Amino acid sequence: MLSMSTQRKLLVTSALAYANGSLHLGHLVEHIQTDIWVRFQQAQGHDCLAVCGVDAHGTPIMIKAEQLGVNPAELTEQYRQQHLHDFNDFHIHYACYHTTHSAENEALTQTIYTRLQANGDITRDQIRQAFDPKKNMFLPDRFVKGECPVCHQADQYGDSCEHCGATYSPLELINPRSSLTGATPITRESEHLFFNLPKYGDFLQQWHQTGHVQSEVANKLNEWFTAGLRRWDISRDAPYFGFEIPDETDKYFYVWLDAPIGYMASFQKFCQTHPHYDFMDYWGPDSDVQLYHFVGKDIMYFHALFWPAVLHAAGFRTPTAIFTHGFLTINGEKMSKSRGTFIQARTYLNHLHPEYLRYYYATKLTNSVEDLDLNFEDFSQRVNADLVGKVINIASRCSGFIHKHFDGQLSSHCHQPDLYQHFVDAGQSIAQCYEDRQYRQAMRHIMQLADRANQYIDQYKPWQLIKQTSHTEQVQQICSLGLNLFRVLMIYLQPILPHTAEQVATFLNCPALTWEQRHHPLLAHHIQPFTPLLQRIDPAQISAMLDEAQSTSETE
Ligand code: 2FM
Ligand code: ZN
Repeated sequence: MLSMSTQRKLLVTSALAYANGSLHLGHLVEHIQTDIWVRFQQAQGHDCLAVCGVDAHGTPIMIKAEQLGVNPAELTEQYRQQHLHDFNDFHIHYACYHTTHSAENEALTQTIYTRLQANGDITRDQIRQAFDPKKNMFLPDRFVKGECPVCHQADQYGDSCEHCGATYSPLELINPRSSLTGATPITRESEHLFFNLPKYGDFLQQWHQTGHVQSEVANKLNEWFTAGLRRWDISRDAPYFGFEIPDETDKYFYVWLDAPIGYMASFQKFCQTHPHYDFMDYWGPDSDVQLYHFVGKDIMYFHALFWPAVLHAAGFRTPTAIFTHGFLTINGEKMSKSRGTFIQARTYLNHLHPEYLRYYYATKLTNSVEDLDLNFEDFSQRVNADLVGKVINIASRCSGFIHKHFDGQLSSHCHQPDLYQHFVDAGQSIAQCYEDRQYRQAMRHIMQLADRANQYIDQYKPWQLIKQTSHTEQVQQICSLGLNLFRVLMIYLQPILPHTAEQVATFLNCPALTWEQRHHPLLAHHIQPFTPLLQRIDPAQISAMLDEAQSTSETE
C-alpha cells in the first residue's frame, strides 16, 4: 500500500449508455479503456472508483417502450440488468451501475436547476419546432425524414444529410415526414427554458487551455467559440420520458441535462452503502479528489462545454479531465448490420474469451481521439502470437520442470539478478504509459520483455541441461527465474487480464499481483501445478461469432 500522502483519490466514469439497446463492441472500447485505467490505479494502491449506469430518458426510449407495450422504467431496468451481466463477463467493474431514472438523480437535477435559476442563468423563449399532428407531439430532429434541401437526396434525417453532410433544421427538409406516423409535420411554437451558456464562455475557454482536455479537443472546441456560444435549450415538452421541471406545466428536463448528473447520482447511490465515502468530499467545490470522464468524440461537446459550465454555475466541482477517444471500426469500416459486423457484447462472449478483446483493444489504444480498428485476422494473430505464444508460453515451458524434477519448489537463488532487476525497472515506464493512457505503448514494452524472457530460456535450454545430472540445480534456477519473470509480466498485464492474473496468483501460490509485488521475487517457494491459462484462437470461433452477429442483426 502507498502511504496516505501519496495515495490519490480518484473517481472515474464511462459514458452512460442509452437503456434501449444491448451493448456492442463499440461501447466496449470505452468501458475497457476505463476499466484498464481504474485497475491500473488500484494496482498502484490508489483509492480509485469507477461509476456508471444507464441513460434512461428521452424520446427514443419512450417510443420503444410504447411500441413494446411496456413501462419505460421497466424497459430501462431490464437493459440495466443486461448491461451489468455483460460487463461482469468482460471483467469490467463499476462500484455502482445505476440509472438516470432514479430518486438520487431527480433530486440532484432539481438542486442544480434551482441553483441555476437563482443565478439568473435560466431564461425562456418561444421556439418553432416540427410537430406530429397525428401523434400530437413535438418531434426530435431524428424523427423527421425528408429530402435534403441542399443536394436533394431523399430520406434524410431532420438534422443532417448523410449524403452531402449539410446540417439544417427539420423545418427546412423538402417533403418532411414524421417517422412515427408518416404524417406531414406542422410547425408549432412552444416555450422552452434555456441555460445561459455564453455567460460561462470565458470560464470555459480558460478551462480548456489549462489541461482539462486533450490539445486536439481544445482546438476543436475553439470552433465553437469562434462561431459564438449560444444558450442551451434544456427543456422538452410532454409527452417525454424524463423528470418534470418543477413549477412548470408539461415540461421536462432535456435528457442531456440529467444524463451527466447521473454520474453524481451513481456515486451518491454508492455512498449510501459505503459510509466512509462522503458525497461532498467528491463533488463539493473544494474537492481534492480527481474526477475523470472517459467519453467518445461524438459527445465530447456535452462533457467539455455544457457539463463543466453547469457544474461551475451550480457550485459543484468541475472535472479534472475529460478523456476523449475515437470510434471503433471493424475491418476498416463502420460497424454495419448488413455487413454482419454489428457485434453485440453477448455475441462476442458466446464464442471468444473476454480478455482477448481487452488485450486487443489495449494494443490499439492511445490517448488520442483517433479511431481504432478491429481486424479479426490481426486480432487472432496478436492473441495467438503475443498472449499465448509469448507470455503464457513462458509459464508452460518452465513449470513442467519445476514439478517433474523439483516437487513444485522454486529455487532459493536468483539465477540472474540483473535480468530480474531489468524487468522490475521496466515497471516505471510501463506505469507511466498506463497513467498516460498509452496502452499501445505499454503492450509493446511488455511484449519486448516477454521476448527477452523467452530468449533467456532458449539460451540456457533447460530441456538439454536436465539430461546432465551435474546441471540439475541450474535447471531449477533457470525455470524459477523464468517463472518469476512471467510473474512480473503478469503484474504488468493485470489491468488488461484481471481474471488470468488471478489464476496466475493461484498457480504461483502468491498474493494478488499488485505493482509493488514485483520487488519480491518468489524464492524457495512452492507453486501449484500449471493448468493451461489461455488457449489459441481457432478461426472457426471467429466465423461462428460473425455468423451469429449476422443472424442477430437479421432478426432484430
Ligand atoms: O451518447 C450517449 O450514448 C449518451 N447516452 C451518453 C451519456 S453520457 C452522460 F452524460 F451520461
Ligand atoms: Zn444533402
